[in-house]
Amino acid sequence: MKFRAIIFLMAICSQSLFAQKHFEVDVSKTVAEVQPDMYGVFFEDINFGADGGLYAELIKNRSFEFDQPFVGWLPFGNVDVKNDNPCFDRNPNYVRLNETGLRRGTGLENEGFRGIGFKKNDSYRFSFYARSLDGGEKKFGIELVSSGEEVIGRGELLVSGNNWEKYECIIKSNATDAKGKVRLFLKTAGEVDLDHISMFPTETWLNRENGLRKDLVEALYELNPGVFRFPGGCIIEGNTLETRYLWKNSVGPVENRPLNENRWNYTFKHRFFPDYYQTYGLGFYEYFLLSEDLGAEPLPVISCGLACQYESEECVHVDDLEPYIEDAVDLIEFANGPVDSEWGKVRAEMGHPEPFNLKYLAIGNEQWGEGYVERLIPFMEVLREKYPEIKIIGTAGPAPDGENFDFLWPKMTELKVDLVDEHYYRSPEWFLANAERYDSYDRNGPKVFAGEFASHHKTRDNNLRAAISEAAFMTGLERNADIVQLATYAPLFAHYDAWQWKPDMIWFDNLQVVRTPNYYVQQMYGHNTGTNVLSIIADGANITGQDSLYASAVIDENTSEVIVKVVNASDEVQDINIDLKGLKKSIEKAEVKITCLHSNQPEAINTREAPNTLVPTHSSVWASESGFKLKALGNAFYVCRVKIKN
Ligand code: AHR
Repeated sequence: MKFRAIIFLMAICSQSLFAQKHFEVDVSKTVAEVQPDMYGVFFEDINFGADGGLYAELIKNRSFEFDQPFVGWLPFGNVDVKNDNPCFDRNPNYVRLNETGLRRGTGLENEGFRGIGFKKNDSYRFSFYARSLDGGEKKFGIELVSSGEEVIGRGELLVSGNNWEKYECIIKSNATDAKGKVRLFLKTAGEVDLDHISMFPTETWLNRENGLRKDLVEALYELNPGVFRFPGGCIIEGNTLETRYLWKNSVGPVENRPLNENRWNYTFKHRFFPDYYQTYGLGFYEYFLLSEDLGAEPLPVISCGLACQYESEECVHVDDLEPYIEDAVDLIEFANGPVDSEWGKVRAEMGHPEPFNLKYLAIGNEQWGEGYVERLIPFMEVLREKYPEIKIIGTAGPAPDGENFDFLWPKMTELKVDLVDEHYYRSPEWFLANAERYDSYDRNGPKVFAGEFASHHKTRDNNLRAAISEAAFMTGLERNADIVQLATYAPLFAHYDAWQWKPDMIWFDNLQVVRTPNYYVQQMYGHNTGTNVLSIIADGANITGQDSLYASAVIDENTSEVIVKVVNASDEVQDINIDLKGLKKSIEKAEVKITCLHSNQPEAINTREAPNTLVPTHSSVWASESGFKLKALGNAFYVCRVKIKN
């Protein structure tokens, strides 16, 4: 008797608390178009995202231009910093080495960005610019050094002549180490000047010199991003106007791109990063090229003449905005202009005579107040006149609601910007509650660009709970794709040993890349964009939030596939019948391909030790005549694809 009671209880417990659901997707008519570039990425040099991250340079402070010229370097013997008769006028510092033969030798060690990552059998392109003061031949030894002080690779360079020349050698590593360093030293007596000491893995993304870290770009590529927003974020504003991002300084020969401070050299909690600068080695040309490689629309953001409003009240007088507006106009010419135009020529000389087909330009990042509106107006007047085809993106400020937001939206409508950039850093509960946010948005004003969003819970870890809430929110973006036209998670990258902000989509160290569950949510959207929105309802009503379920549906008119996204944000299994209404032909026995991101532990995260704790899994079910069944596990996000014959 006791045994039977237990079995009975177990049977009850194993049943879902929720009744079976019927979702109805109407395939007979489409509701809205989905922009092909809808889901993308937002890149900013925060958390060592560019220097020390995506940009594959391994030497920190390669031009000795940091405020303290030896930051990152350990000089030994006789090494001085000089700047007379420099090799590069915009980065004038260099070092003079004088080997007298009297002491332990003369040279320098570089610590890299929290160490240098070496891989066994991989090779590294080491280079510097040098001149021998007496013109005679001087020999340099170069050593790759492990964290245990062992030499794991050697190279040699012979410098001769008293004019600045570039010297280069390839060095192979015979060991793997995430925290190595590099040492260079004079092997012959005499004086030599050195500048722009650089080292890249020979294997970069597409094996380009001055290239990008292959594994990190691969992670981006696998997202299939439609749009690429860069280079910030607050970084474009600068802590001061002087340190705002100046795109013109980021193009042309890499050695002569002047260093800038990084606005993220400290965090709100007063952690300082005195070694965080922007070399601009990854500059606007490289950003455009990367967008092209990824098949994503480039979306640059530029300063509107206001320094970061969190940091300062510095602003350019409206009457003095001309150079800022000129930067915007010239940027469009750099991207799209003919090769005989001033800036189109710069692009062509850098190796890309074809235009980059820029379509979007964001003026300002998270600005707020009347001061923003006053400055946006003259930008718009000039841009509309000169480049009416460019879509202008204005901002709704740093938050998705409140005084600034309420002030700016009507202004953006009045000014007729094409898109308004909204940012949301809110709790998982907010994301769930806001899956309906756009159902009632005004359809007559500008479109929405969800330019920065991430679910922020207490620990701010990239856990599944946060990712699921983002997936649920995004069903609302997708259902409202007529008004929400672009969406990018933020921020993109974080170095485990040098981050200022979390959560972030991709974590990395000098050798490893860890994709978060939030990454996989973006990837599942990015690969399942579809072309048109279909209506989806449950038992005659809007699904959003019913029993913690969220859903959207699209069709890909190129492949005739219906794509249904379902989020179960509850802890319970829920049985769902998904009916496709309006089918012209039965889909009986069609394969429904299902991708699922799920765990019974919503607090779970991916780590360096266990990077695949949370990864999407793939399965399939067979369709019935007009639909299919989905057993939706708790804390799960599903994408279901089925081909129809309409
Ligand atoms: O993504 C990090 C920061 O968040 C961005 O720089 C800024 O736009 C926002 O406040």
